[in-house]
Amino acid sequence: MRITVVGAGAMGTLVAARLSSAITPNATDEDDPGARPSQVVLYGRPSAHLDTIARDGATLTERDGSTSVIRIHATSDPAEVEGSDLLICLVKAWASGESVAPLKSYLTRDTIVLTLQNGLGNAAQLRSALLHDGVRPHVWLGVTTQAAIRTAPGAITHTGSGITVIGRKSSEVNPRLREAASTMTNGAWKTAAVEDIHRWVWRKLAVNAAINPITALAGVPNRAIRENSELQKAAKIIASEVAAVATARGISLDARELIAAVNGVAEATGDDRSSMLVDLEHGSRTEIEAINGAIVSEARRERIPVPANQLMTALVRARERHQAAK
Ligand code: PAF
Repeated sequence: MRITVVGAGAMGTLVAARLSSAITPNATDEDDPGARPSQVVLYGRPSAHLDTIARDGATLTERDGSTSVIRIHATSDPAEVEGSDLLICLVKAWASGESVAPLKSYLTRDTIVLTLQNGLGNAAQLRSALLHDGVRPHVWLGVTTQAAIRTAPGAITHTGSGITVIGRKSSEVNPRLREAASTMTNGAWKTAAVEDIHRWVWRKLAVNAAINPITALAGVPNRAIRENSELQKAAKIIASEVAAVATARGISLDARELIAAVNGVAEATGDDRSSMLVDLEHGSRTEIEAINGAIVSEARRERIPVPANQLMTALVRARERHQAAK
């Protein structure tokens, strides 16, 4: 199996490191000596992080504090993804299309593209960016609540363990989906193939919609969502709005289930700072448009008021613009 991970952020590096340790490079299948050699590639924009990994390997700190250096084939050259069976996309939501567009002529109609990104709309962006000569690969959806942070160029820490599920646009769990889930389970972490991926996507959307902007604006770690009663109240309002929009879109999720999911992730990733908090601290673009912004757009279509999501979107946008103008 040839696997490419697109996006050398903390999560992309983590999954590439796990898969690279598990899948022996250039191992040939004994039952099928003619098969192409297995390989894991981490593809990303040129950066000090990617250069360090390509030269020295990735330094991975586990949740128990132990550290190892893992060799990863890291590259910015699109040609090196040629022949990938599975492409796992872990770039920021706003970069979905632009990050995979250079790869399109190196993929085939048999390549499976799996998005594990935050937010709504990633699969559609990937599908349109990958259309090439009338052919486009299959794009599957996934969500993960694993968490990682980048601590220095070439170094990441695995900070939170969670659930990973993958599924197809149609609900059928076919053998290829099962095979992709078992590749992830054997190589990275436990991954389930599910029929109801859209429910999972909306559940994760609620988690991100509540945790990310609140922690980013308040400047607090994820655990504060659980521990600070005012922030808990705000998280509940946001999650209830998401439940109302999801239900109107035909995805049955109730507010209580979503609030439990938000609190579960806030607890499991307690000391972590959310990706949106980290983005604002670094003056980087956030995923607000694909998270709360997308909820506002969906709600408008369904004529459902979502004032809390609207407020979060407006405040994070204002912070982004203020920082960009500095
Ligand atoms: O975006 C993030 O930070 C993560 O998706 C999550 C799960 C909220 C943990 O911080």
